[in-house]
Amino acid sequence: MSGVVEPRVEVLLDPDRAGASLVDDVRRGLGGRPRRLPPKWLYDDEGSRLFDEITRLPEYYPTEAERAILAEHAADIAAACDASTLVELGSGTSDKTRTLLDAFRDPARPGGVLRRFVPVDVSDATLREAAVSLSRRYPGLAVEAVVGDFTLHLGQLPRGDRRLVAFLGSTIGNFYLEERAAFLGALADSLEPGEWLLLGTDLVKSADRLVAAYDDEGRLTERFIRNCLTVLNRELGADFDPGAFSYAPLWDARMQRVDMRLRAEEAQHVSVPGAGLELDLAAGEELHVEISTKFTRDGIRAELADAGFEVTDTWSDLAGDFALTLARRL
Ligand code: AVJ
Repeated sequence: MSGVVEPRVEVLLDPDRAGASLVDDVRRGLGGRPRRLPPKWLYDDEGSRLFDEITRLPEYYPTEAERAILAEHAADIAAACDASTLVELGSGTSDKTRTLLDAFRDPARPGGVLRRFVPVDVSDATLREAAVSLSRRYPGLAVEAVVGDFTLHLGQLPRGDRRLVAFLGSTIGNFYLEERAAFLGALADSLEPGEWLLLGTDLVKSADRLVAAYDDEGRLTERFIRNCLTVLNRELGADFDPGAFSYAPLWDARMQRVDMRLRAEEAQHVSVPGAGLELDLAAGEELHVEISTKFTRDGIRAELADAGFEVTDTWSDLAGDFALTLARRL
């Protein structure tokens, strides 16, 4: 095919280290108080499949809301910044990104067509597949995929051109407050002044709708959250009994986040040999599996300013459920 540039794939993630980092995370997280498990371990094959199903639930509005904003405003976004490289953190299948790429590759784009796309994801296989398909779809676009972890490898992303970093899906909401500040700071450090960030964030709304989005009728979210115990059983030889835990997400109005925990229904002993842990869980003791922080426009602006970004534009869906914020590294 003429004009098709073969994608490049750079691997920053050492596959031999993936197991070691699960061990570290579990030792620190489950060994500490409160007992926490980093949400990235929710996404094994089964977890990724369940999450994909969640995005199609009627109760789970964020995916559709963000897709609607992109469908409506991709051309505005492409016109509002002068980037010639798009970096996407946690790109997965790059599904939603196609809408952005279409707009950035439009010959009528005021700043000229986008030259390079850098999808970044921990999943090697998904990334390679997406990279090949994007190279075919956008002849002339240089696809430089990076197998990497956006909590570790921001400093090693390809440089040059003027970059726009897209971080969509409100994934930033999974970070705890202090992790979020550290992440935004590291992102700012990795960018040159004048480079861009496009941030997708779910917005604060009624507690009813928020809780419903994480406590769906069909209990898919419960299965998704509980799947982390199956991951620990498989990867670390643990003997969690997933049925011995209940799931009841709550809206923490003070911290503005949905908190997803697993609660030990009765006192139990759990061995996690792969992490050298023996856990004595009291009845009612909780494992903090995931948070999903919700944002306000003012809050986003303030957090971005603290990190060294200036907000230049914000787009929302009609219902005002979700926001895409464009900001510039100062
Ligand atoms: C993919 C992180 C945005 O927080 O809404 C969905 C993950 N967890 N249902 C979210 C999730 C339970 C989701 N993010």
